[in-house]
Amino acid sequence: MTFDLVAHDPQTKARAGVLTTDHGTIQTPIFMPVGTVGSVKAVHQRELKQDIQAQIILGNTYHLYLRPGLDTLQKAGGLHKFNGWDGPILTDSGGYQVYSLSNTRKIKEEGVKFRSHIDGSQHLFTPEGVMDIQRVIGADIIMAFDECTPWPCEYDYARRSLDMTHRWLKRCIQRIDETEPLYGYEQQLFPIVQGSTFRDLREKSAQFVAEQGRAGNAIGGLSVGEPADLMYEMTELCCDILPADKPRYLMGVGTPANILENIALGVDMFDCVLPTRNARNGMLFTTQGIINIKNKKWEQDFSPIDAELGGYASTFYSKSYLRHLFHASEYLGGMAASVHNLTFYLWLVRSAREQILAGTFREWKERMVKQLMVRL
Ligand code: GUN
Repeated sequence: MTFDLVAHDPQTKARAGVLTTDHGTIQTPIFMPVGTVGSVKAVHQRELKQDIQAQIILGNTYHLYLRPGLDTLQKAGGLHKFNGWDGPILTDSGGYQVYSLSNTRKIKEEGVKFRSHIDGSQHLFTPEGVMDIQRVIGADIIMAFDECTPWPCEYDYARRSLDMTHRWLKRCIQRIDETEPLYGYEQQLFPIVQGSTFRDLREKSAQFVAEQGRAGNAIGGLSVGEPADLMYEMTELCCDILPADKPRYLMGVGTPANILENIALGVDMFDCVLPTRNARNGMLFTTQGIINIKNKKWEQDFSPIDAELGGYASTFYSKSYLRHLFHASEYLGGMAASVHNLTFYLWLVRSAREQILAGTFREWKERMVKQLMVRL
């Protein structure tokens, strides 16, 4: 895996790069659609490639391990073969889902004991086990097993949790370095910075993560309820310490404004369920602002969802028709809205990249942050 920086914005810390994996190259900054169980909800693989122009998608260790399970994934030849997506894949480690989804969980030094949200069965995730699972899933980028602290969080809890996350990281690294990929292509482990919203803990964690010298690094534990300014403060602090020549991935972020502000601070990769989850509830992100397509206002608005954005889902259907689909509870409503929102998110990061290459990112970002968050 290689990462080449091709441009720096002169007025912010934004960068444009190219991340090369054995499944193809990724132009950064990039947004990665979330495909929790190996499927980006309500979106065909063909739409992901052709309409949305996704370059990498996400999967979740927690979900894939519980269902379909490792036996099926291994027999399929890994997730790429199983779901037909032949581009790069990143899997999260379960270090987030196990806390947010499973019914009961006990966090110990060894790992996390939890009950499946599907059938209540008991399981243990350890750093070593989670590395082995991600080998079987076969993602190009695999994430370290961490604890994502809630917000707000007591300083002492955050400090103890961080120390454990660092010990877990060492165990992840040892396991990944003593095992081989199963399917013949490279898999790289990204460590995760934690430390809640405490500056000294974030500093310590970013330094520890930087010292590991991995192919890329992630920032976790943010966008968990803290004010946006605090998130930006933590991101900036981490980005300033993490190596400049490696990609930086901010986990679980966020709104269009969050993405642009964090690009300006030096983040290269993002993922979030927001565009797909909100699409299924009728919330659309457009180049003119945010639309709740269920509102009466759109009942007889026969204009395209977003003419300026272009692309199939954003121009083929009218607002009026999409509103009708939502009111009639038609599957097509959630599907069209999901393709539209992801097309918008990929447009957003592609445009950010073009602005960075042109040296005009800051001015454009300031304008867009205001424009894109307006409620229409
Ligand atoms: N997704 C969003 N935030 C996090 C985090 O802190 N850790 C992990 N593993 N995944 C995340």
